[in-house]
Amino acid sequence: MTELHGTIESHPLNPGEEATTYPPTPEFRAQANINDSSVYWRAAQDPEAYWAGRANELRWTKPFTEVLDWSNPPFAKWFADGELNVAANCLDRHVAAGLGDRVAIHFEGEPGDTRSITYAELTSEVKRAANMLTSLGVKAGDRVAIYMPMIPEAVISMLAVVRLGAAHSVVFGGFSAESLRARIDDAEAELVITADGGYRKGRVSALKPTVDDALALHGGGSTVQKVLVVERTAQGVAMEAGRDLWWHEEIPSFDDQHEPLGFPAENPLFILYTSGTTGKPKGILHTSGGYLTQASATHRDVFDLKPETDVYWCTADIGWITGHSYVVYGPLANGATQVIYEGTPETPDWGRWWSIIQKYGVTIFYTAPTAIRACMKVGRQVPEQYDLSSIRVLGSVGEPINPEAWRWYHEVIGAGSAPIVDTWWQTETGAIMIAPLPGLTSLKPGSAQVPQPGIDISIVNDAGDRVDRGQGGLLTVRKPWPSMVRGIWGDPDRFVDTYWSQFGDRYFAGDGARVDEDGDVWLMGRVDDVMNVSGHRLSTAEIESALVEHHAVAESAVVGADDETTGQAVVAYCVLKSQQNILSEEDAEGELKKHVAAQIGAIARPRNIYIVNELPKTRSGKIVRRILKQLAEGKDVGDTSTLADTMVMSVIQAKVSGIK
Ligand code: PRX
Repeated sequence: MTELHGTIESHPLNPGEEATTYPPTPEFRAQANINDSSVYWRAAQDPEAYWAGRANELRWTKPFTEVLDWSNPPFAKWFADGELNVAANCLDRHVAAGLGDRVAIHFEGEPGDTRSITYAELTSEVKRAANMLTSLGVKAGDRVAIYMPMIPEAVISMLAVVRLGAAHSVVFGGFSAESLRARIDDAEAELVITADGGYRKGRVSALKPTVDDALALHGGGSTVQKVLVVERTAQGVAMEAGRDLWWHEEIPSFDDQHEPLGFPAENPLFILYTSGTTGKPKGILHTSGGYLTQASATHRDVFDLKPETDVYWCTADIGWITGHSYVVYGPLANGATQVIYEGTPETPDWGRWWSIIQKYGVTIFYTAPTAIRACMKVGRQVPEQYDLSSIRVLGSVGEPINPEAWRWYHEVIGAGSAPIVDTWWQTETGAIMIAPLPGLTSLKPGSAQVPQPGIDISIVNDAGDRVDRGQGGLLTVRKPWPSMVRGIWGDPDRFVDTYWSQFGDRYFAGDGARVDEDGDVWLMGRVDDVMNVSGHRLSTAEIESALVEHHAVAESAVVGADDETTGQAVVAYCVLKSQQNILSEEDAEGELKKHVAAQIGAIARPRNIYIVNELPKTRSGKIVRRILKQLAEGKDVGDTSTLADTMVMSVIQAKVSGIK
């Protein structure tokens, strides 16, 4: 069972806290996709009928007759006797409807190269790639690892894999060789699709060498037979004869005729690894019909998408769930026109994002609070140099958006008029669960507000009873939903244990939340050992185990400390082995930061590492992380009387505050 950090306290509202709300303007409401609030109660009356209706907006090769099979909880089946091809829903369907000339992707490379790809072109490319993958032996039921920069071939690869009924496992390009290898091994992938590199911060960021390192680890001998390499940066990479193939050398020999087969709705679509409370990442499994139903429905509803006229841009990388659901599957299933940008927001300067919005006339923009806060720090004078008047809807995801950042985003990027949809969801939920509907909801800065139609959220106390309005508790989902996680790859026990052991057949999200007097939901962060750094999930246990793998480290404790820009930051406390002479205390901080980045990836690099002689423990030997977190946040550590040795704290405190 997931261990929780005590009981969530109630968080009564401060007087005036929610005084300012932002109702939809009459003009926005009039044109909105959803402007009749009866959708909520109609969906609540019969959620299965509601979702069946939404599923029927897709093209099924064999219609479903059964909506939900919940006979073996928590293993749900949605639309199980139906069949569809997910890629054909994202591509061929639009071409057949005469929309082939619509731009699917405006690609903007970091160095400034651009490419606009229509639905007809994207469909041809995916068909060609599907034929190429077939020749490499990929077939329904297989897993393919994708380790790519944000370039069109990443999307083409994902769609080509699923077109064949195989499942992809996209690994974020910032992950290390170790992390990549662990994911390849767990999914038993036989093919890796990668690129020589991508452009980040004005430099080439190599990827293929990391794949080589990953496959050479543990004496080689992985499940991987072939590595397909897209040429992007041309910096020159080693190619292993018999294993490695260049995409551009292979693809011309395949034609763009490919008939998509229908696959069962519950056919695995992808595995995406995410951090849990233990060291080993979890392979979150999503399947086809239910996932596509909810990803596309929420994308249309929450962003008020008008595929004919909108230009949509989500800044997430395909290595994360947001990139899966709201760059690839949701937008393409809806026939949207979208921007994909390869690089970072500050390259060549902090005007880059705003110049892209101006250039393509972006109307819907979806990003993370950490990015908004970084832009706030740089100052409003940068976006003010650009014409952002095309923007009509803004989105936020990944962590709670603080009201200050909300107001800046609203005023400076949204000209004081664009609604902001704060979307709460998770890798496990597959699609948005809680968010305003911009034509209906009076927005409250800092709150994700309302469960989506057909979604049944309940905030409960430790005993599982619904808390009163104005109170805090744990976020649960009471009924199954179409895009829900179907399992942890290869580990059904961990699946049951992590999400379903707390409250029976209700899903426990791992987040704390409270409901206000109006019934709106406010997210309050994780209640388990998962940190949220720049909207990315990291596990304290995973970083701790990376640290103790270093020869000089005896013991470590990692906490997520509040951070102004990144939401939380990784702070580690390490005890060095007494007999070691590998690392001096002076060098330890830098060396261990590098070590964590090499073991897991740069995103896990601790902000601070404190070398201490001992960690604070209870009499039964448990590390008291609460105290270490408070210390890292510069707060009063409070009562330390439960510690076995209360002196330990004054020594650590002196270290953290820099007193020798
Ligand atoms: O704690 C919640 C936070 O991010 C976690 C999910 O992380 P991940 O699976 O990586 O997916 C991130 C993108 C969907 C949640 O358990 N979180 C995500 N969105 C919000 C949020 N917390 C508050 N408000 C949000 N809008």
